[in-house]
Amino acid sequence: MEPEKRIEELKRLIRGHDNLYYVLAEPTITDQEYDLLLNELETLEETHPELKTPDSPTMRVGSDLTKDFPTRTHSSPMLSIANTYNEDEVIEFDRRIRNLLPGEDIGYICELKIDGVALALHYEGGILRSGVTRGDGVTGEEITSNVRTIRSIPLKLPDFDGDCEVRGEVYLERDDFLRMNENRMDAGEKEFANPRNAAAGSLKLQDPKMTAERPLKFLAYRLTLSGERLSSQWESLERLMKLGIPVSQNRRKCSGPEQIMKFAAEMEAERDKLPYDIDGIVIKVDSHAQFSSLGATAKSPRGAVAYKFQAKQAETILEDILFQVGRTGIVTPVAALRPVLLAGSTISRATLHNEQEIARKDIRIGDTVLIEKGGDVIPKVVEVVKEKRLPDARPFKFIEDCPVCGSHLVRDEDEVAVRCINASCPAQVERSIFHFASRMAMDIEGLGESLVSQLVTSKLVANYADLYSLKYDSLALLERMGDKSASNILDALKKSKKRELKHLIYGLGIRHVGAGAARILSDRFGAIDALMKADMETLESIEDIGPAMAESIRTFFDTPGNIDIIERLRECGLPFEAEYPQPAVTDDFFAGKTFVLTGTLAAMSRNEASDLIRSRGGKVTSSVSAKTDYVLAGTDPGSKYGKAVALDIQTLSEAEFLKRLG
Ligand code: IVH
Repeated sequence: MEPEKRIEELKRLIRGHDNLYYVLAEPTITDQEYDLLLNELETLEETHPELKTPDSPTMRVGSDLTKDFPTRTHSSPMLSIANTYNEDEVIEFDRRIRNLLPGEDIGYICELKIDGVALALHYEGGILRSGVTRGDGVTGEEITSNVRTIRSIPLKLPDFDGDCEVRGEVYLERDDFLRMNENRMDAGEKEFANPRNAAAGSLKLQDPKMTAERPLKFLAYRLTLSGERLSSQWESLERLMKLGIPVSQNRRKCSGPEQIMKFAAEMEAERDKLPYDIDGIVIKVDSHAQFSSLGATAKSPRGAVAYKFQAKQAETILEDILFQVGRTGIVTPVAALRPVLLAGSTISRATLHNEQEIARKDIRIGDTVLIEKGGDVIPKVVEVVKEKRLPDARPFKFIEDCPVCGSHLVRDEDEVAVRCINASCPAQVERSIFHFASRMAMDIEGLGESLVSQLVTSKLVANYADLYSLKYDSLALLERMGDKSASNILDALKKSKKRELKHLIYGLGIRHVGAGAARILSDRFGAIDALMKADMETLESIEDIGPAMAESIRTFFDTPGNIDIIERLRECGLPFEAEYPQPAVTDDFFAGKTFVLTGTLAAMSRNEASDLIRSRGGKVTSSVSAKTDYVLAGTDPGSKYGKAVALDIQTLSEAEFLKRLG
């Protein structure tokens, strides 16, 4: 291919991967694969400087900036760091340093390269004032309220009242990550691909209370004191410890490549025993004077380099491609492999992610493939060993129908995921019943995951409507089910019939329809029948209901299996109509007005207040804009109050609100 064309192609590929990595937090290639693309582009641009443009991805480090947080310029750029992958490259790094500092003694500090998210902390007078993400390296986002929820970050430094900047890594331990994903799965939310993405997502939540629920941790690797010079990286790390800021205990002074490689090998062997993921080690010139005299390239300091561990890989034959239906209905292609030993275990299955991934890697049945065990437990297919392809290797076609229930599969709007949307598909039954019974839905107490599983396995229920046909006798026969628990479940089921329409709509488990959307739909349509009949245009015209949601609502009600279930729910006497029909615009103070709530109310929770406003025909939104009519402010109101004043929007005290309610 001509260099010009290849350069364009590489730029396009890299930008795509940048977006997947930084914006969507869902990378589809490994760092190493990414580096290969970037290196190829750099080399081409070096040999053809006339083809290098200012917008080339080689001109910048990645960016994780969104528009949701205030930005702040870093005191010094948060650079990224060059990667090495083998001993030769480490030797080359050392040689370069020694050439640049002829005759000087060189010492290195080796640390773990924690696979998390970089964060800069600013302490003023010993008090934590701000936490800023790396952003694009020059400017980051101020996520201070979220950072304050991380328990290993001291809010006040003991015995220190000066100013300093601390940089380090925010991460999640693997166990915490797995637990978090389980909870997300139970709540019908999308799982995170790995701990790093989960940490990144958690740091950027708009509600610090939610961040606080994520067990984020922090380890520091850099300290800058104002008014005091630290002479070396080693000293910085010791000083950080004295300040009560966590640093990793796995660090070592090394004199050169030999000791560095020894540390690397030891850490690679320890890797799986650490509670968090590391993807290598970082090697830094210890002396700060030397480190700064070495300077930096546009992207990374010359005095530091990462040595990345090899992902564990092996070659084997891909014998078939199978399909697995997950509990959320997503159909994932799975490679059936000729069993092979990889990092201590025999592997016969590997994930193939999705159809695009298979096409991109041109994977065919019968191919010899390279598989890899990364930080995740499930191995994946990295690439096809094309030289070993036999002529009879078969291209593969994605299935059209669900392998479990046979109903027609639906492609997600992003065209990546393929999904079975038949609510009676056994693969999804447990999941959907559990969701139906959950607190925000029908709130059926006692119907936990293990009971749902028992009910489905023993064929007592095959969908959530079946729950209402459960009889005492069959329930009491279940293992670990006492007489009392059996009647409690029946009571809870009976009680659930008194829930509201919005709970039922949410409980149906329509994709994209969360509790908030369910409430909007309940308010707007006031009855299941009206919702079932709504066409795309009507649905899309509702504020806060986007095209993706509108489509999945339509698809749900167009699936015959779902209609059967709904009709049975109707027969069982579930809440098919809202208690209060959508109020016509009356002269009520609340009707047609938009409210924003801030601060703490004394007489009720904000949720209760919101429900009351809605029941009187008002609307509650989360942010103040020109469209807001009233801001209801309790005690300790947040920034919304200030915004209301700035926009000249009328504010309402709790007392006034209660008076209006009558
Ligand atoms: S030093 C001057 N040390 O790896 C070099 N970085 O591209 C700046 N990281 O996102 C980084 N552990 O957040 C350094 N012990 C460590 C690290 C570390 C993880 C991250 C860092 C950055 C990336 C470097």
